[in-house]
Amino acid sequence: MKNKKTFYVTTPIYYPTAKPHLGTAYTTIAADILARWHKLLGEDVFFLTGTDEHGQKLDEAAKKVGKNPKEYVDELVKEFKNVWKELNINFDEFIRTTDKKHEEIVKKLIKKIYDNGDLYEEDYEGLYCVPCESYWTEKDLFNGKCPSCGRGVQSIKEKAYFFRLSKYQKKLIELYNNNSDFVLPKSKKNEMINRIEEGLKDVSFTRSKFKWGVEFPMNKDYVLWVWADALTNYISALEWPDGKNFKKFWPANIHLIGKDILWFHSVIWPAMLMSAGINMPKTIFAHGWWTVDGEKMSKSKNNVIDPLELIRKYGVDSFRYFLFRASTFGEDGDFSEKVLIERHNSELANKFGNLISRVSTLAEKYGLEKTENKLLHKLNLKQINLYINNYELDKVLNEIFSFIDACNEYVQEKKPWETHDKKILYQLVDSIKAISILLWPFIPSTCEKISEQFGFKINYSEIEKPLKIKDIRKGEILFKKIE
Ligand code: MSP
Repeated sequence: MKNKKTFYVTTPIYYPTAKPHLGTAYTTIAADILARWHKLLGEDVFFLTGTDEHGQKLDEAAKKVGKNPKEYVDELVKEFKNVWKELNINFDEFIRTTDKKHEEIVKKLIKKIYDNGDLYEEDYEGLYCVPCESYWTEKDLFNGKCPSCGRGVQSIKEKAYFFRLSKYQKKLIELYNNNSDFVLPKSKKNEMINRIEEGLKDVSFTRSKFKWGVEFPMNKDYVLWVWADALTNYISALEWPDGKNFKKFWPANIHLIGKDILWFHSVIWPAMLMSAGINMPKTIFAHGWWTVDGEKMSKSKNNVIDPLELIRKYGVDSFRYFLFRASTFGEDGDFSEKVLIERHNSELANKFGNLISRVSTLAEKYGLEKTENKLLHKLNLKQINLYINNYELDKVLNEIFSFIDACNEYVQEKKPWETHDKKILYQLVDSIKAISILLWPFIPSTCEKISEQFGFKINYSEIEKPLKIKDIRKGEILFKKIE
């Protein structure tokens, strides 16, 4: 038998210092959509997410509440898993950087990089942002604060092992030039090329002022810098170097991340892989940031969006839908509950929900008769596939919704409630099948209900197969209007 096509998608591993919020939910749902899409196509999919549990930030957060770090993260990891379940996120593995398996593989990778001559000992003196776990120099700062998160930085002076990032400058530029999709969106790629061309400095890969990390394999006075440990999760989960999954799924099709952590993923990670002689991931996709009603989301502003609260109010599918319809994937977006409600009402309830409810009512009354589905010609499947392959998720939804509009117009025009035309109803139900299959990655639980109601399977190949006629019952209302 021919080997199935594979698809490997990852999310960042999150710091379990707070519960999941809008931002972390966004990346994870995006990964879920891509994983489901490729499952729909019948591919062999591996979807990885998890938690980044070492480092100074975590060590300090645990101390603050008088816990040991492991105890502290264990509780939050439960929260993460629970929220992902509530959001209908169907990952294949949840990696924790405190897993023994991960720690051993990190040491193996670091040893390989060391043996290759890419780690050397020297004094480090500079600045450190604990929330971002990143090194800065005076001239990087913005108004004296961390240029990434805007918070204060601390000076550190310690002996450290440095990774020879500078050695990879030329190779990285080549990598970017030879792989047009290595970093997406394109604007972000150019930004990174410019930064690499400005020159790369070697980066400290170890810390020595605390113990909460993976022990540096060449010198036990050090623990690894948390980013060197965390990035390795993408291959440790596959059991690099000999694991069956590593052979099957690596290189990753896409590392999905937020724009703030692009440097680590598109410069440091590829250089580590180059040093160890491992193939490059195909694409690193950086999405934008959400503001909330025009403001930065932050604890101090007390405007952190809790996904659980929203799904309790509006349902999980309305939340998932809103996130990918309301802003261009790759650009920043603004979250507003008001707009979520508007879209829920006008698009999910009025357009999609009404189509299902009208057609099922009529189909129950008058039945269906097989015919060619000419209405389906209005669905631009080719375009949808192009969008998916470019990770333009908002455009996929747009395209599906313009077909929903076409179906609603068809009902208006053909008036099946007057004509009782079973062939018209057949075409409508067959089109609902196509719509629900394509929307399943975005709003899985609603589409599963529809597939039961109308009796079809959720599988991409079913779109172009004629619908099998079954008795149809008018179902429950899928999206109740919100006042
Ligand atoms: N632990 C690192 C990642 C290591 S990956 C090898 C980390 N963790 S994090 O918990 O801080 O969260 C990261 C993700 O959440 C990032 O991709 C970040 O972009 C995303 N977001 C956090 N706030 C966000 C918004 N307001 N909007 C969109 N995404 C945001 O970084």
